[in-house]
Amino acid sequence: MNTQVSPSMDEQARAILRGNDRGGYTVPTAGLYPYQWNWDSAFAAWGFATFDIPRAWQEFETLFVGQWPNGMVPHILFHKPDPGYFPGPDVWGGIGPIPSSGISQPPVAASFAKRVYEADPEAGRAPLAALFPKLLAWHRWFMDWRLDQGAVCVTHPWEAGRDNTPDWDGAMAGIDPTGVGEYTRRDTSHVDPAMRPTKYDYDRYIWLVQLGRRLNWDEAALLKENPFRVADPTMTFILLRAQRDLADLGRALGEDVSAIEEDIQTLENGASTLWNPDLKCYDARDARSGAWANCVSNASFLNWYAGIDNPAMVEQYDRITNLCTYPVPSHDPASDRFDAKRYWRGPTWGIINSLIAIGLKERGLTDRGEALRQATADVIARHGFAEYFDPHTGEAAGGGTFTWTAAIWLAWASPSQGAT
Ligand code: GLC
Repeated sequence: MNTQVSPSMDEQARAILRGNDRGGYTVPTAGLYPYQWNWDSAFAAWGFATFDIPRAWQEFETLFVGQWPNGMVPHILFHKPDPGYFPGPDVWGGIGPIPSSGISQPPVAASFAKRVYEADPEAGRAPLAALFPKLLAWHRWFMDWRLDQGAVCVTHPWEAGRDNTPDWDGAMAGIDPTGVGEYTRRDTSHVDPAMRPTKYDYDRYIWLVQLGRRLNWDEAALLKENPFRVADPTMTFILLRAQRDLADLGRALGEDVSAIEEDIQTLENGASTLWNPDLKCYDARDARSGAWANCVSNASFLNWYAGIDNPAMVEQYDRITNLCTYPVPSHDPASDRFDAKRYWRGPTWGIINSLIAIGLKERGLTDRGEALRQATADVIARHGFAEYFDPHTGEAAGGGTFTWTAAIWLAWASPSQGAT
């Protein structure tokens, strides 16, 4: 596939990052997501590092301003009120230093901090030294509160960053959202409802927020009472990778990293518990019921990114990428639950592609990694810096002028800066 790239694509991407800057932190996109989101910001830092390293470090600093005393880093920080978003700070009732949500998101920050540091180690030493203990505390929180047989669980569909993936269908069916009350969604006034989660899903999302709030976000109480607890490939592979990168950063700072090395061992064992032998794929596992989700998702292919080889996953990858023009789809196109435009039930997400491709290249699957970079560059060049894309047609979906799509363009997909 030959990507026709206008020379201004890099400039457009930088303009998106600058345009979504709200003074030290970026919003994912104006309107639909008007606050600071956790993993979006870490991707943004990776993008900023291609042209403004101090600004990249600042993105992490503003993110960790919201860290809770127990180490958790929330998935949304409500720095300034915005009535255009639901559920806002009054619904969440977060208990951190600034208004926030009560759940976390995939911990990609340590891995991108490593990249920002490596772009200029001298300039990075002081900001890294300040960030390191905060990353350590956040990772510890995951290890303390979120493990099931060593795999990392999510306690709300939003926590994995893959909101409405079929991976959660089983656990969601176990929730009775009676009493959730009336509420007005704001997302469907920004974006076509056909590209967003359904009311069935939303009632359960809000019910889970209300449960957390009622328990004052006490993790021990939630561990007992929350029916939604799913061991997830996104979190498990990303935390495993992040721990490896954090250990490298610790070594660079002269820290003792033996505790992180133990965590890596635990998570490696945990990752193996996500292998679904019948599906022949890494899969989500309901930690309450033990049931498999039976889903081949784009998160399934993060094993290489986590440093784990598996020949059966190469076969699975080839099967899935042959089923669509713009891989990697967020759900198997051969499944009857696939929906090409509905968010995490089918569309392709550039950010996940960037992580998959980093892993493919590192584990020697270089041609596949490069092909994925090309396909991602192609879909962005043709259809713009969209939130996500139809994997068959490439059509843009969700929000536009999206921070993380611009960021991965600059740091990875762009022909001008495509080193991974
Ligand atoms: C959606 C995505 C999530 C992302 C957020 C902001 O909720 O599913 O992964 O962080 O939007 O872009």
